[in-house]
Amino acid sequence: MSNTPQTTAPLWLAAEDAAARAERAAGWHWAWDDGPADGELRQCLWTFTLDRPLSATRLTLAAQKGLPGVWLDGRLLHASKDGMAGRELQDLDLGDLAAGTHRLAVAVRTFHPFIQEPRQGGVGALLRSGDFFLAPRAADWRIRTGAEPGWHESDAPLDAAVWLPALLPAEPIDWLPTPAQAGRLMRRRFDLDAQLRSATLEITALGGYEARLNGRRVGDALLTPENSDFRVRLLLQSYDVTDMLRAGENVLGVTVADGFYASEAIGRGRYPFGAAPRRLWARLTLTLADGNTHVVTTDRDWQAAPAPTLFAEIYHGETHDARLEPAGWDAPGFDASGWDAVHTAPTPPCALMPQESPPIRATLTLQPRSIRRLANGDHVVDFGQNFAGWCRIRVRGEAGRTVTLRHAEILADDGQVDMRNLRAAQCTDRYTLRGDANGETWEPRFTYHGFRHVQVSGWPGELRAGDIDGVVVHSDLGVTGDLQSTQPIVQGLWHNTLWSQRSNFVGMPTDCPQRDERLGWTGDAQVFWPTAAFNMDVRGFTRRFLADLRASQRADGAYADTNPPALPAYGAHGWSDAGVVLPHTVWQHYGETAGIDEHWESMERWMAWIADVNPDGLWARRRDVDFGDWLSLDAKNLMEATTPKLLSATACWARMLGMMVQMAEATSRTQRGAHFAGWHERVVRAFREHFVRPDGHVGNGSHTSYILALAFGLVPKDLQMAAADRLAANIRERGTLLTTGFLGTPFSLDVLADHGHPALAVDLLLRTEYPSWGYMVERGATTIWERWNGDTGDVAMNSFNHYALGSVTGFLYRRVAGLASVAPGFKTVRCRPLLDPRLGDGRCCLQTDHGVIATAWGRDAQGQPWFEIALPEGVTGTVELPGHAATAIQAGKQRFSPRL
Ligand code: BGC
Repeated sequence: MSNTPQTTAPLWLAAEDAAARAERAAGWHWAWDDGPADGELRQCLWTFTLDRPLSATRLTLAAQKGLPGVWLDGRLLHASKDGMAGRELQDLDLGDLAAGTHRLAVAVRTFHPFIQEPRQGGVGALLRSGDFFLAPRAADWRIRTGAEPGWHESDAPLDAAVWLPALLPAEPIDWLPTPAQAGRLMRRRFDLDAQLRSATLEITALGGYEARLNGRRVGDALLTPENSDFRVRLLLQSYDVTDMLRAGENVLGVTVADGFYASEAIGRGRYPFGAAPRRLWARLTLTLADGNTHVVTTDRDWQAAPAPTLFAEIYHGETHDARLEPAGWDAPGFDASGWDAVHTAPTPPCALMPQESPPIRATLTLQPRSIRRLANGDHVVDFGQNFAGWCRIRVRGEAGRTVTLRHAEILADDGQVDMRNLRAAQCTDRYTLRGDANGETWEPRFTYHGFRHVQVSGWPGELRAGDIDGVVVHSDLGVTGDLQSTQPIVQGLWHNTLWSQRSNFVGMPTDCPQRDERLGWTGDAQVFWPTAAFNMDVRGFTRRFLADLRASQRADGAYADTNPPALPAYGAHGWSDAGVVLPHTVWQHYGETAGIDEHWESMERWMAWIADVNPDGLWARRRDVDFGDWLSLDAKNLMEATTPKLLSATACWARMLGMMVQMAEATSRTQRGAHFAGWHERVVRAFREHFVRPDGHVGNGSHTSYILALAFGLVPKDLQMAAADRLAANIRERGTLLTTGFLGTPFSLDVLADHGHPALAVDLLLRTEYPSWGYMVERGATTIWERWNGDTGDVAMNSFNHYALGSVTGFLYRRVAGLASVAPGFKTVRCRPLLDPRLGDGRCCLQTDHGVIATAWGRDAQGQPWFEIALPEGVTGTVELPGHAATAIQAGKQRFSPRL
């Protein structure tokens, strides 16, 4: 092996073993008939002949959408019930198979009334035994609908007139259903003979990687590279490794596993954004003391070997066998003579983009709050906090013992973890001990879980608190907001929202961190962003996410509803709005317009996508994926319009147009500003004509109808109070509760407080019966639930860690703590704390670019309210206390004791 540093461009090295290569050569072939996914069950037959017997045979079988029946030679192998996922994937153990002819019979279910449902069905199979692979092509299947009972028997007649050869699916299906593969260790040794000035490692992978240099881990970024649409963008990490190099022999060692690239997305198969194999790319640039540079890259001099990571999948978990770890493989002096040569792989089409946003890191370590032993010997650990991350274990036991960790948000009645709401995600880690007498420490590196409880099986003896930590993992954004209140619901809501933000800012802003979803849903992001910006510095994170939005923006201008676009859903109102709301929020919060400029052209195309087909100002056309006021209280099914969707769509459009006008003005785009102002006027007029009655009634009278109309300035001034009074009256009539879903909830309390009903806003904020934030807090929630009835609702849509309903936390900053900016960037503040006695005492700090703005509030010994504000140098503003005129305030601390 040559170990001379060289200067050619890095190659892409395949991170796969011979079996994986053979599997790839066998291929995966989808088959279907000439019809759509129409709800009709399909029957499919594959007849194959083996010229020798096979042992330890496995059958991977996949269908878009479900597999209600699978038979081999008439024997039932598998039968599934209907589920949420858009596909079913099974890896079945067939054991020994005799030589001769076999018949595989498969029933395929095709329809589920939900957005992610593919429009077309598909079936495919792969038979494997050792390095033997057999994969039927489309024409090897016979397919039909309406077969008679008994069709799956091994000797059932096969009438060629009705059992037609299958076809290639009309639309290509781009996911790979084969199970996750083991990781690969890849190493490159090189010599350093000259004196070094500095060294930088640039590295990325199509897959997940962990890099080590001379036996030490490089950097502290986790889950690299982060998720993106890998067809277009791949983030490249850079590390200063100057201090890790040494004179003489050096070794760069990298573990490559599935990572985001090869893991499943929303229950679809692997490789959702690009083909196998997994690939590694690296360039280590050595700048020598004499000014010369040398580079060590991914070249043919690398070697590879099986990794102790036997399985690693973002959703399903990680399996690590420590006995298989070659000691010292990543350090000088190791004998790698038995290792494999590497193969190169095609250069992918994506651009390598330097990662500028804060990486994912471990930011906190949680200790168990309790550990209980179950009758079956398992331990169940409660960390007392729902979070995203994993466990770190310290264990001493005999070699070969396997400890299994199953993660969940909730417990079942029998005390075991309840994993039903995780859908297809297995969320299970397994560690096999090497038997170190001094004990061994392990944590996974290529998966993460959303959980509070973990059930540990196979632990040697008694599991104690010091043996297990909860490692909290998320994009490491600086925390900028802090709010402390003696009012438990206020405090609980703030706490739960911050933890849901931590758990869901993991590379992408995700909807949830636990089930088989974890997608960058744009609707969740846009409703949450104003709150997110109070809690953390979201600038870099937003910039990165907007670049992803642009990367997946369709040629016609529509934004994807999830990023990366794991689903064929584009342009939903209230979701794709993120493309406008996020840059607007960042500008408002930090006063920076660079993000607007960077994103302007893209926003123009998105706005035109709506306007082009809706000249009369109602967003009536181009609304094919229509979530509306998602998960609102009265909805009996997911897609039900409890608020007319034409109303919510048009309101969202008007809001975006208003933002476009402001952003055009802020960036001196005068003409474009006038253009959008014209459209804004038109849409507002159309909204009023259609939805606002002269008596102030809005839409169908739903809470969200009023809230959106009032929040976005769509109700004429003279009717605003009437509309707000109607809203308030209905809230009272319903029992002082909100019926709002994702779209209405974020604005609900601000709208009431801003339109003459501050006491009602506080009633709702402090409510503890269902539905309410207090209901969650009182039921022990430590994060925000997806649904108001997370504890009793539909298991398939019960995430306990979804920040959307926590969007109202912005109200706590604005109207409890009194922190709002009038001009972008918190240079001029307008403080309007409610000072409602029920809100208790509290204090709040917000880190801004000008310094910390701090407020405090409460009651004195006589029960009189007080409010305090401290402004940093250069910040001015006004304080408006209930019933009092505005008072100008300057830098420094000021205290107010108003008579209310
Ligand atoms: C997600 C949501 C998302 C929604 C779209 C759900 O499955 O969890 O948060 O916005 O789908 O309607």
